[in-house]
Formats: sequence, C-alpha cells, structure tokens
Amino acid sequence: MTYGTVTAGVVAELRAIVGEKSVWIDEERLETYAHDETSAEEYAHAPEAVVLPTTTEHVAAIVRLANHHHIPITPRGAGSGLSGGAIPVFGGILISLERMDKLIDLDLDNMTITAEAGMVTNDLAHTVAEHGLFFAGYPMSVETCQIGGNIAENAGGGKAVKYGVTGRYVMGLELVTPTGDVVWLGGKLAKDVSGYDLKQLVIGSEGTLGIVTQAIIKLTAYPKAASDLLVLFESPRAAIDLVPRMLRQGIVPTGIEFMDRLSFQTSCEYLNETLPSENAGAMLLIEVDGNDPAAVEADLLAIGDLCEKHGAIEVYVAEDRNAVERVWAVRRNIAEAFKVASPVQSLEDIVVPVASIPDVIPELERLAATYGMQIPCYGHAGDGNLHATLVKDPAMDDATWLRNKDACLRELYHFVQGLGGKISGEHGIGLKRKKYLPDVTNPVEIDLMRAIKRAWDPNLIMNPGKVFELDAGP
Ligand code: LAC
Ligand code: ZN
Repeated sequence: MTYGTVTAGVVAELRAIVGEKSVWIDEERLETYAHDETSAEEYAHAPEAVVLPTTTEHVAAIVRLANHHHIPITPRGAGSGLSGGAIPVFGGILISLERMDKLIDLDLDNMTITAEAGMVTNDLAHTVAEHGLFFAGYPMSVETCQIGGNIAENAGGGKAVKYGVTGRYVMGLELVTPTGDVVWLGGKLAKDVSGYDLKQLVIGSEGTLGIVTQAIIKLTAYPKAASDLLVLFESPRAAIDLVPRMLRQGIVPTGIEFMDRLSFQTSCEYLNETLPSENAGAMLLIEVDGNDPAAVEADLLAIGDLCEKHGAIEVYVAEDRNAVERVWAVRRNIAEAFKVASPVQSLEDIVVPVASIPDVIPELERLAATYGMQIPCYGHAGDGNLHATLVKDPAMDDATWLRNKDACLRELYHFVQGLGGKISGEHGIGLKRKKYLPDVTNPVEIDLMRAIKRAWDPNLIMNPGKVFELDAGP
C-alpha cells in the first residue's frame, strides 16, 4: 500500500479547515506525538502533521481530505495506551481529540452523560459525581486518559470485577467513518436490536474503523459506601491461589487487584510512598462497594476472614478514604514506575478464565528462569487479567534480550491460549502484539476482521498498521 504524503498543499487545506494555529508541522511538536506509553523505542514514529480539531465537522472534513489523497490518519486521545495503537506508523495526519473535551448533555432523568471524545475520564467521573452519579470506568490512567480512547480500546481497569469494562456503559457514539461520513450509533436506549450492533463493533476496534467524536455514557447511582482491604501474602502463588475461591463465595467485590513485591516496591519508590508490607511477597487490594454500609462491612469482613484462613500474613482495613487513595495510587502507578526503573521491558496484558489464574504464576516463574529475566507481575486478578512484565537484565546483551523476549512471549501466549485465554485483556493488540495475534487466532476470525476493515475503510487510511496485517501472509 502506497500512501499520499502531507504536502504543502494539504497543510494549506488542513489550515483552511481548522485554522492556522491548529495544524502543527514543526519537528519538536511532531516528536511528542511519535510515542504512546509503550516504552520500546522500536515502536516510535512521528506523524507528518498534527491537527487539533474542535468540532465533529472539522474531523469529518479532515478525514474526507485524507481519504481523497490516500493519506493515513491516526486518531489519538491522551496517548496513554500501552500497545502502540496511537502511533502513526505510516506518518500522515495525526488527529488529536484533546481540544474536543466539552460536556454536551448531562441527562439526569435518563442517567446519561453525553461528552466529546477528548474529555478526560476523571473529569467526566467528577462531573457526574457532583450529581450523585457514578461512571464505573476506572482505567489505571484515569487521571489523564480520555473517554474516546477508553472506547477505542474498550478499557478495563480496577472496578471491572463488579462493573465490567467501558463498553458496558457506552449507550451511543458519534463516529466519523473512514470515508468522512458522520453517523450516530446506538442512543439513550436500554435495548436495541435494530440491525447489526455497529456501536459494539467500534468499541475496542482500536481506532481502525473510524474516529469516535462523542459518546453517550450510562451512569448509575454513586455507591453510598466503599471499603478496602490490603491483604499481605508470603508469595505471589499464595495470593493468586485465593482469587478464584474468593469469587466463588458469592460476594462480588468491586475489584481484586494483585501486586507482587517488585511491583509494589518499585511503585512505592517512584512515589516516595510506604505501604505496610513486612515480609510480603505479594498483596491483594480488594474493594467492596454498595449502598448499605453494614452490608459492605460484612462482605469485607467475610473476605478478610477467608484470606486469614487461607494463608494471608496480614489483613489491613484501610482506615479512611485518604488511606484508600494512597494504596490505589501505588497500584495505579506501577506501570509508570517500571517504565522509569526498568525502561527495557515488555508490559503484557494476558487474560485467562478466572478459575485458571493460579496456573499462570508458576508458568511465569518457569519462563523467567528459562529466559534469564525477571517477570514481575501485577494486575486485575479478579478479572483473570495480569500485567506480567518481562524486564531485561542489564547484563544481557541487546540481541539476546530481543531473541529471548520474543521466544518467551510466544511461549507465554501459547500457554495462555491453552487455558482458553487471550493475549490482551485491556491494552489491545495495536502495534505491539500484531505479529503474535495470528499465532493464537483462528485465521477465519482474522479474515472476518479483514473483510470488515476493507468494507469500512476502502482506502485503508484509518489507523493503518494496527491489530492485523491486511494481507494474509506466511
Ligand atoms: C494497569 C495498566 C498497566 O493496570 O493497565 O496498571
Ligand atoms: Zn491494567
């Protein structure tokens, strides 16, 4: 596929659409948009132009222009993604939604908020909380990520055991298609089987099927009570072994998060924070919420008892919301902390059926020994979704690291597949995992995806180079 380039003429047309100051072509600014949060430099690539639209009409006009000239487009939210999904691998035009951050409508009767795609997820959550309403999306990047990016990736996070992931709350979305048409999919409806569910297809399609410009998000009543436990275990195995048992108790916690020692220590050092950790080899952070404080307390106590009966070293109840927020900040910052402490790494996002999660830890230990690397691990244990992180030993030479990393990932992914799992639970395939997807996916499934892509995006301009190769290769 040969793409058109962003010529001086195209820049002039872009400026005619969004205004002189909203098109950037200087190298320094372009460089900022060459990365997302994946640490490997091998993924970096700068766009030829960054455009900052403020309306859906702007976005549609830019896409029509790009489609006409066959120029690749990469949509981008906050750039907090972890699979290289927002990296403009073919150059072209990067459309940043950061200025489209307006609240369109807060509908208290229908309990929905309609917002532009660039609204920061935390701002959305705080806006609705002022009205006693709750948005259950809680990606670990909640302070910076944007709702449009959450939709593109179908982001998960720390509350998914009870509340599920982003897609469950997207009732409708406005999409600029890869040919520059504008369409609303879904609406403020509790049910809708009026044709194919295209909205659901867009959610999690990693920006390859169009650009989400607005979304209608379902809200619930803000839970009146929440309480958290921090449970210390001797080893990662001891902590993880307990998770399926905990879920079988019939209590649905909001989230069950896992951190091994290296993970919580690295984050604590990064934040200059301390957690009670004694000799803990791992921790579970468990939250319960609901409307009845007594019921929340009872559930939390039952979970604490279970932990004590099954090998916990210590069970701490967070004293107040400040203490809770401090522990969650440690959890939220692990990825960032590792990026600083061990920049040569591969952050993984495997997901397995929750009952199989105890099988994962011994396999990670085996792989670490086989390939001479540390594989610290943390993540959303209650969802069967773990962020094993392959970390390069500084003594290992670069070529060996690349070879071992690749072999280790292939083994890990096959192992996960054998458990009925998948290679990404929330970060997406993007660029980072594209070459591995065919290893663990029925070719029929990839061919169906290709057919959809070609139907929606005949000139293949929308976020090209992501998720799968367009031509079936060897
Ligand atoms: C987290 C990110 C890495 O769970 O998904 O911290
Ligand atoms: Zn995560």
